[in-house]
Amino acid sequence: MSYQTILTDLAANGILTITLNRPDKLNALSQQVFNDLADAFAKAKADAKVKGLIITGAGPKAFCAGADITRLADADAIHGRAFAEEGQAVFKQLETLGKPSIAAINGYAFGGGCELAMGASIRIASHNAQFGQPEVKLGVIPGYGGTQRLAKLVGKGRAMDLCLTGRFINAETALAWGLISEITEPAELLTRAEAILSDITRMAPLAVASMLTVINQGFDLPLDDALQLEAIHFGWLCASKDKQEGTRAFMEKRPAKFEGC
Ligand code: COA
Repeated sequence: MSYQTILTDLAANGILTITLNRPDKLNALSQQVFNDLADAFAKAKADAKVKGLIITGAGPKAFCAGADITRLADADAIHGRAFAEEGQAVFKQLETLGKPSIAAINGYAFGGGCELAMGASIRIASHNAQFGQPEVKLGVIPGYGGTQRLAKLVGKGRAMDLCLTGRFINAETALAWGLISEITEPAELLTRAEAILSDITRMAPLAVASMLTVINQGFDLPLDDALQLEAIHFGWLCASKDKQEGTRAFMEKRPAKFEGC
């Protein structure tokens, strides 16, 4: 499948790499980028050959420099709300794909770029990456989930700091704050993302899908409801063939061969 603003590459091991491909505009999120991402995420969800996703940016400077400011400049109240809801829906698609995703952040992740990365299951970054929610400098607030997912990932105080000042932080600070889980050399970023994802895709697919659902949905529930959700998924997984295989393989001291059922 070919797109105008993104590149997609499905490897034999089921890892789909999606590269934002507007390097001259620092991979900013135009309407066409959202259309392309929405289509690619929908197809990735439906395609059993896709086991996991890597999202990265083309060019040496940027993962993604955020929402397209030229489009924002023309938005009135009605269009502004639609602008936010549309981006939120696409990033929610990524979060609820039922398959693991890694944002491999190769440079600037500002505004919508940081929000796109936060829709992924895991974030790793190269040394030269920078992060920020600079919307306040444009007279708005983050609109693609940044006010919510950032606070959940790094805590309310640090989210307030980044969103209110619009300042940028480097990869070391992002790691210390828990916004990313690992830093690599730029040349090793994609290899490392592939290694993490292929480890995950060797696990039992139903357990991986449940993990994504229970952690994401449970985070927004009162503890007792979240624990119920965990117990329901745990019980359901206990009825799977893969749980029989996983426990038997442990006892037989051999690697498990999971089938996704
Ligand atoms: N939307 C639209 N175009 C953008 C963009 C965005 N969010 N971010 C960068 N671009 C474009 C620039 O307009 C420029 O295009 P041009 O060459 O046609 O003039 C090109 O990308 C390169 O950007 P430039 O600003 O020249 O690069 P830089 O290295 O000097 O600065 C940034 C990099 C990221 C600091 C700067 O581009 C910036 O502040 N971008 C906006 C970040 C932002 O506020 N994001 C949140 C949006 S809600």
